[in-house]
Amino acid sequence: MGKISDRIRYVGVNDLKTTAFEGMWPLPFGVSYNSYLVMDEKTALIDTAELGFAAEYMENIRRELDGRKIDYLVINHMEPDHSSLIAMVRESYPDVRIVANAKTVPILKGYQGVTDNIHVVKDGDSISLGNSTLTFYMTPMVHWPETMVTYFAEEQTLFSGDAFGSFGALEGGITDSDAGLYGSSDAAGSVFGAFRDEMRRYYSNIVGKYGQTVQAALKKLSGMSIARICSTHGPVWEKSVSDVVAYYDRLSRYEGEKGVCIVYSSMYGNTAEAAKALAAELESRGVPYAIHNLCTEHVSYAYRDAFKYDTLAVGAPTYNNDIFPPAYNFMYGISARLVKNRRFFAFGSFTWAGASVKLLNEMAGRCGFDLISEGISFPQAYSREKCDMAAVADRIKAALA
Ligand SMILES: Cc1cc2nc3c(=O)[nH]c(=O)nc-3n(C[C@H](O)[C@H](O)[C@H](O)COP(=O)(O)O)c2cc1C
Ligand SMILES: [Fe+2]
Ligand SMILES: [Fe+2]
Repeated sequence: MGKISDRIRYVGVNDLKTTAFEGMWPLPFGVSYNSYLVMDEKTALIDTAELGFAAEYMENIRRELDGRKIDYLVINHMEPDHSSLIAMVRESYPDVRIVANAKTVPILKGYQGVTDNIHVVKDGDSISLGNSTLTFYMTPMVHWPETMVTYFAEEQTLFSGDAFGSFGALEGGITDSDAGLYGSSDAAGSVFGAFRDEMRRYYSNIVGKYGQTVQAALKKLSGMSIARICSTHGPVWEKSVSDVVAYYDRLSRYEGEKGVCIVYSSMYGNTAEAAKALAAELESRGVPYAIHNLCTEHVSYAYRDAFKYDTLAVGAPTYNNDIFPPAYNFMYGISARLVKNRRFFAFGSFTWAGASVKLLNEMAGRCGFDLISEGISFPQAYSREKCDMAAVADRIKAALA
């Protein structure tokens, strides 16, 4: 069941229980914690899984090992979704030698109390399992300081850690030939197509700030011949390796596709009406867009599509002479993720003295965004006369042309 190739076995688990990953990110399709066994004369386990899945995970390992022991445990990443079973693996397989880099050592001690039988590796170091060679490359800040990837040359396989990972549990298989996105009826044509939105939501929310270090990692990997990517979340990429790498490259360069991500917040519906008017005008012009209401939807979806499109339109009423907090929070996150290369448009209702549009523009200016216009700050109720969204849509369409 867990066979990826003769030498590579999947021993990961699906998490369909956790409602919020990292305590924050909704998981409508679950998430997988992927871990792999490489089997040759010696065996190596690549990362582990989340603590709550100990019984299932340990059983997966036992089944694939079929009586053998684990010689090495390679730690690519110490975030607890992959590392919280390390001590338990050592209890069951006391001779296992841990393979980790110098930055991992203190983190491993701090979380798992493990200090002995560690083989410390540097960038480019290898271990041999017989006819299988694992080589380690440091990829710091993708998305923690200790992150590294493991390359299995004989199988042209990259164990990439969180890089190229996605939210969404695996249904029906493991690779992009046979895995579906759990619980999704989306027939997007390919497995990559089915996972793309959840991959971008994972990237934009969890890795999004580290575009520069992801670019450095991609540069480092660019010389390798990669036929298979085994990441820690989502499908194993085989058919879609080049698509997935190209997509990651694009996301980490903050390169949006042509279109508008409309993100709005509204207490009484007036700013909401303006947002919907803008959506209707874009629709009638054939401009691609997504629209998200921060008051009813989790902000992670807004970030997902802010990373998708090259134009960002943000609506917020004025609130205590400031930006209505959900939109302020969203813009804070845009700035924290170092989002670049966006056109920007702000709008919002007020009653006695508008402030939100001016302040949104200032936040956008600090991100280096190009303003489509000075924005539309309108008193009280929405009307076509107060909010000429047709003109805004014309400008956006012209800018995208
Ligand atoms: C707690 C609170 C604080 C507000 N602060 C301001 C303000 O400082 N300046 C202002 O012009 N309007 C202020 N307003 C009025 C709103 O901006 C106004 O009701 C606006 O139309 C709401 O837009 P919405 O329907 O999109 O929520 C405030 C409203 C509330 C409830
Ligand atoms: Fe992580
Ligand atoms: Fe992870």
